[in-house]
Amino acid sequence: MKSADVRRKYIEFFVKRGHKEIPSAALVPENDPTTLFNSSGMQPLIPYLLGEEHPEGKRLVNSQKGVRMQDIDEVGDNRHTIFFEMLGNWSLGDYFKKEQLPWIFEFVTRELGLDPRRLYVTVFAGNNSVPKDTESIKVWQEIFSNVGIEAEENERIFAYPAAKNWWSRAGEPDKMPPGEPGGPDSEMFYDFGEQLHLHEHSPWKDETCHPNCDCGRYMEICNSVFMQFVKQADGTLKELSQKNVDFGGGLERLTAASNDNPDVFTTDLFSSIIRIIEGLSKKNYTDEPKTTRAMRIVADHIKCSVMMLADGVLPSNKLQGYVLRRLVRRALLHGRSLGLAGDWKYVGQLVTPVAQIYEDAYPEVVTKAQEIKLLLEEEAYRFGKSLEKGLKKIEKIEKLDGTQAFKLYESFGFPWEMTEEIARSRGQVVEKGEFAKAFKTHQDKSRTAARGMFKGGLADHSEEVVKLHTATHLLHQALRIILGNHVQQKGSNITAERLRFDFSHPSKLSEEEIKKIENLINEQIKKDLPVSFKITTYTDAIKDGALAFFGERYPEKVKVYSVGNPSASSGSRNSVFSREICGGPHVEHTGILGRFKIMKEEALGAGTRRIYATVSKTP
Ligand code: SER
Repeated sequence: MKSADVRRKYIEFFVKRGHKEIPSAALVPENDPTTLFNSSGMQPLIPYLLGEEHPEGKRLVNSQKGVRMQDIDEVGDNRHTIFFEMLGNWSLGDYFKKEQLPWIFEFVTRELGLDPRRLYVTVFAGNNSVPKDTESIKVWQEIFSNVGIEAEENERIFAYPAAKNWWSRAGEPDKMPPGEPGGPDSEMFYDFGEQLHLHEHSPWKDETCHPNCDCGRYMEICNSVFMQFVKQADGTLKELSQKNVDFGGGLERLTAASNDNPDVFTTDLFSSIIRIIEGLSKKNYTDEPKTTRAMRIVADHIKCSVMMLADGVLPSNKLQGYVLRRLVRRALLHGRSLGLAGDWKYVGQLVTPVAQIYEDAYPEVVTKAQEIKLLLEEEAYRFGKSLEKGLKKIEKIEKLDGTQAFKLYESFGFPWEMTEEIARSRGQVVEKGEFAKAFKTHQDKSRTAARGMFKGGLADHSEEVVKLHTATHLLHQALRIILGNHVQQKGSNITAERLRFDFSHPSKLSEEEIKKIENLINEQIKKDLPVSFKITTYTDAIKDGALAFFGERYPEKVKVYSVGNPSASSGSRNSVFSREICGGPHVEHTGILGRFKIMKEEALGAGTRRIYATVSKTP
């Protein structure tokens, strides 16, 4: 079965069951500079899972593109990829376990044709605050019994602790920050059986092999999260006002399972890319495990780079641009192990197959293919040249030690194994100890940074954060009135202490401009304007003058927040000051905001400024 059929069948299946299809958001969340990439289907839906009303209703379905950098070390096996597509359906306080689990089973068995005897499921085993998910066990037993399978616990249904069967963006309950939603989940695994080429070195024959074992025989194909809790500041979990379902099924893996092929890299989502790499390197994908692994890494990383470039990410030393740069470099280094060096621009030849794979789902990759190719070639060429210089330098070093090996990793992205291989070919031994120490410090630093980056646009939905969110709308509009309509929001991050707002503007703000902006906002606060929202079509919202983030793909129906009375005649004391497409939440009246003050204004990059501002705690 082709991946496009899997995607289409899934969307149709859930549309038939009352779901509204919503578009995939871009890889880079446009209104949220604190999360580098969308890494799950639910990410753009957080406000609605927390209780905001979604303009398209309570049942949603889509296919969302995503990037999971945390899987980078796993890429090279049969199933991990950094770029992925997640088929998702959501119940926002509507249906729950007894509808969700039978539907998913029906979809994978009837629509994709998976043999029920090859399916295994897992549920949450419980912890000290949330009980074991016996309800899901019962539902699964009934589902399997309807197809003549007696589903016993520990044979077909397995219960695991939070490390395996709890889902939130931060992981287990202990790791969730305040305000983060999460819940127990139920995963489904497909048994590929004893396909020997996969299991030569795997522990599958051991008695310990089970669905959640990492050997590759059982592949997790989808996950239904019962998102019904939110983390509190005191560390406890509170029931959300609504019980949600957040389902995610990896398109790559569902396609692999529907073809009974354990290798996602030989499905139509990768095979054409691999073929080009085979041609360029004059090696076969199946030659030896080392070759297979390197080809998978090159194919995955370059595909991911192409998709990032298509969404406007450019190589740089910061944020998303740095991730992109790392991926291209890593791909080139692994390509080098396949003999692909010298003409580093070869990666440009992989753009066309990627564009063809996604021509229906993401046509922008096709329209931008030429531009993407040039950018990718340029980046590859520059790195290739500096790598060649670096390698020449290494040859001059008499004894390569662990610290130097780490420098190679830091400057060129050389993985340990590759450095060792360089060194070995020259009869040297490099001590891993020193490398490992420096590497760990580096990893700890990036993890801390990543944690800081993790939170969404709103740190939580506390009263202070919600107030500052409304203040952000006032600021956005005030900037446009005082500085001009060229001002566009580039990002926003709000904590209980302050708001941070990034916007396009070519020059530093003068003290006078800052004063004018503050005064204008404080006037709106004094007027105690009502804040309200209405649900309308995207086209009507724009016609009405609502602000929207340029380039973001919106569903047909959107929520528009107005500050001021939408029905008051324009120019009157209470007429609308700001109108913006936004998921919420907001305060009900501006009067409770307190005094607005800009604390700091600075340059963020060419043509982009950043403002930090607060409101006083008391109105
Ligand atoms: N949020 C869950 C996941 O990403 C299910 O959609 O796996």
